[in-house]
Amino acid sequence: MSLLVIFHRTKSVAMGLSMCLLAACGAATPSPTPPRQTVPIVTPVPVATASVPLPPLDVRQVSRGNQLYALHCATCHGAQLQGQPNWATPTVNVVLAPPLNDAGHAWDHSDAELRRSILRGSVGKDAAGNQFMPAFVDKLRMDEVEALLVFMKSTWNTQHRVRQLMLSQPR
Ligand code: HEC
Repeated sequence: MSLLVIFHRTKSVAMGLSMCLLAACGAATPSPTPPRQTVPIVTPVPVATASVPLPPLDVRQVSRGNQLYALHCATCHGAQLQGQPNWATPTVNVVLAPPLNDAGHAWDHSDAELRRSILRGSVGKDAAGNQFMPAFVDKLRMDEVEALLVFMKSTWNTQHRVRQLMLSQPR
């Protein structure tokens, strides 16, 4: 009987000790008066740049995209991707080619939307029934469309690239 009591006591002391060790002897128990620390230790970084690492662009794709752009797109969107003059001024029955560089809003569209624009062309048509931008689905392979996207991205500043990367993330 007494042996049993001793066993129980030693067991509870051992348990108490291990619990104390586990809790780092009171470190995990909340302090009754929490420290009044209000100054952040780390300066907050804007969420966009902190959470999305910007992947480097493949230089071969940039160069391939550049060639394809010169061949198929520059006539309308401009040699510097600057768009047609006065592209933003609304005109009846005319839709001009917008810039594809930072000056436009291509960077404000996801990869999927940009691919769609290139493959299907514009929804709008002129009075003769021609699309303002032709569809390239029969003229470009998918790897060529990807190279065009990479080339466009190479002209965007970091802020726009981060924004466009976030828009392209699966939701
Ligand atoms: C005949 C002129 C023309 C050609 C050639 C052309 N585009 Fe366009 N593109 C346009 C016009 C006009 C629009 C605007 C359509 C609209 O808003 O409905 C446009 C829109 C776009 C957009 C959407 C931009 C945005 O900010 O919404 C992308 C991306 C684009 N073009 C890429 C290309 C690429 C890449 C090529 C070459 C493969 C190309 N375009 C060739 C006229 C052209």
